[in-house]
Amino acid sequence: MFPQSRPRRLRRSEQIRRMVRETHLRVDDLVLPLFITAGRGIRSEIPSMPGNYHLSVDQLGPEIDRVLAAGVPAVLLFGLPEQKDPIGSEAWAETGAVQQAIGQIKRRAPELCVITDVCLCEYTSHGHCGQVDETGEVQNDATLELLCRVAVSHAQAGADIVAPSDMMDGRVGAIRAALDETGLADIAIMSYAVKYASAFYGPFREAADSAPQFGDRRGYQMDPANAREAMREAALDIEEGADFIMVKPALAYLDVLRTVADSFPVPMVAYNVSGEFAMVKAAAQQGWIDERRVAMEILTSIKRAGADIILTYHALDAAAWLREQAG
Ligand code: PBG
Repeated sequence: MFPQSRPRRLRRSEQIRRMVRETHLRVDDLVLPLFITAGRGIRSEIPSMPGNYHLSVDQLGPEIDRVLAAGVPAVLLFGLPEQKDPIGSEAWAETGAVQQAIGQIKRRAPELCVITDVCLCEYTSHGHCGQVDETGEVQNDATLELLCRVAVSHAQAGADIVAPSDMMDGRVGAIRAALDETGLADIAIMSYAVKYASAFYGPFREAADSAPQFGDRRGYQMDPANAREAMREAALDIEEGADFIMVKPALAYLDVLRTVADSFPVPMVAYNVSGEFAMVKAAAQQGWIDERRVAMEILTSIKRAGADIILTYHALDAAAWLREQAG
């Protein structure tokens, strides 16, 4: 009655383990987020996100060279404006930090894929992702027009992919139409389709100075308790023309990622967000975990759950570790 099947047979050597390994993380799966700030001569580390910097456009060169050397195929740009106002108008300024950064990157490395985060929260004085009325409510349809201006300005500056992260209803369709009308039909949309109202964005909000001044984002971002609703969000965005669908955050939502990935035949993106990164960094700094092993385990788990692409602040490290592993 001794077991006929011994799973350990396939774990006996690294060679066998490599042969039966089901999930492979690749450098090609990774995207590095970057924080571009207005001004000059700025390269300051973000305290809660070690190894990540606020960079002014003139300081971008060496960072882009690092991305190229690592072989990471894409960056995701966030902008910090010079001035905020109630509608976030610097978000679509031709001279805005993101617009200028795109030009700078494309001059230096035309082949590097540039994705831009399309949202207003970093640019509005109140910190919400759209236009608010006198009661403090974010106005969905009025916001769509502003988001279209942002997306078109990024695409005109040379972005390859625009990534709306605001969670307004109908924004993918509106942005698709605005791009098409401006002769930008080839620019893809990566939709933050399934984005939860999450406390894991804490370090980012500090980094992007985008915490809401009143209220919270629960009136537009999803309730962490909901999974079926993710299917409706993804279906709507695909119908409206999204080329990629994102689930965000990643770790506490791997079940959602798996279900959405199984249900829709579009490239799946997962955002391994700032709080997830900061927890690993903090514990590693205390000597409580092994950063490299934990980070690689996390990224592999996100891939295993169905992501094709992972946005991660560990992108450059992970690329280096993957190279080392390959010998
Ligand atoms: C903008 C936006 C946020 C993140 C990406 N785009 C913050 C938010 O919605 O509050 C979070 C990214 C991260 O935590 O790494 N709306």
